[in-house]
Amino acid sequence: MKETIDRLRIDGAERIGSATTEADLEALRTALLGRKGEVTLLLRGLKDVAEADRPKMGAELNRLKGELGALLEARLVELGGTEVMDGPALDLTLPGTPPTGPGTNHLLLTTLEAVCDIFYGLGFSRGVGPEVELDYYNFTALNFPDDHPARDIQDTFYINPKVCLRTQTSPVQVRTMEITEPPLAMIFPGRVYRNENADASHSSEFYQIEGLVVGEAISMADLKDTIDSFVRNFFGANEPTRFRPHYFPFTEPSVEVDMQCVACHGKGCGVCGQTGWLEIMGAGMVHPNVFKAAGYEDDKYTGFAFGMGIDRIAMLKYGIGDIRLLYENDLRFLNQFRGVL
Ligand code: PHE
Repeated sequence: MKETIDRLRIDGAERIGSATTEADLEALRTALLGRKGEVTLLLRGLKDVAEADRPKMGAELNRLKGELGALLEARLVELGGTEVMDGPALDLTLPGTPPTGPGTNHLLLTTLEAVCDIFYGLGFSRGVGPEVELDYYNFTALNFPDDHPARDIQDTFYINPKVCLRTQTSPVQVRTMEITEPPLAMIFPGRVYRNENADASHSSEFYQIEGLVVGEAISMADLKDTIDSFVRNFFGANEPTRFRPHYFPFTEPSVEVDMQCVACHGKGCGVCGQTGWLEIMGAGMVHPNVFKAAGYEDDKYTGFAFGMGIDRIAMLKYGIGDIRLLYENDLRFLNQFRGVL
């Protein structure tokens, strides 16, 4: 029996290899492995083999059966491939799925770069700071009292008591002043984090651009002029801006900056909550304690700083009503802004 198996192994492989159509293969499958096929008959004949040899022969036959089955499958794939090439199964003239086009920058990044470009035009340069920040730079050096509510775990993601995810880009002010002698005019764009529940106007991560100008005799008038230039450039309109007194620990005096509503030009509408004004950033004159933390000489310099949310600026410019749209990456939304800036 062993010889018959060996012969069938060689002979079967040859016959499968020389089959040229799927029908040939089917016939071969029946002839070899079918109910009355050669391998099946041998299996049936096992009962006549001497009892001592039976397990070995059985195993041999099963191996042969598996091998021939695999050869039949492989040859079928080969023949199938030829058939697709020859026949009409693949019609290359049918219209295909239109390509979606090359990738592009996200609206937030385009907005961020457009804002930076305006400030480069005003003579600013760009700096960066870490997103994982020391509590010292995020708060202490910025003159936050120890018991200030913003340090509360509600607002800040702490990694350990001394390290947090920065809640604002303002810490980059101090890091920069520590290593730079005035005069300086710089912007610091980047991502910030706050422990907020997401809703139409809040996200636990968003983008800010911080601005810092330090020199001798820098005044509030310089701040107003810089912000007006930015608004005119970015929103392309002559909307006036106004300063409202506010409080930030790291600026004194501090203001919130509003621009006249781009949608109604000050008349009052749904976008501006009928006030005619839209808040666009926080700003103020750098607090002497911040200069002290940065190691600047007493009274030698003055400066201003401002911080705006990129998300908010983009939403105002393009009439986007929900901040979450900026983070969901739905192409139907994003593709509307291809090449806008
Ligand atoms: N860091 C402030 C905020 O996130 C904004 C700000 C920056 C205010 C610079 C004044 C000066 O709300």
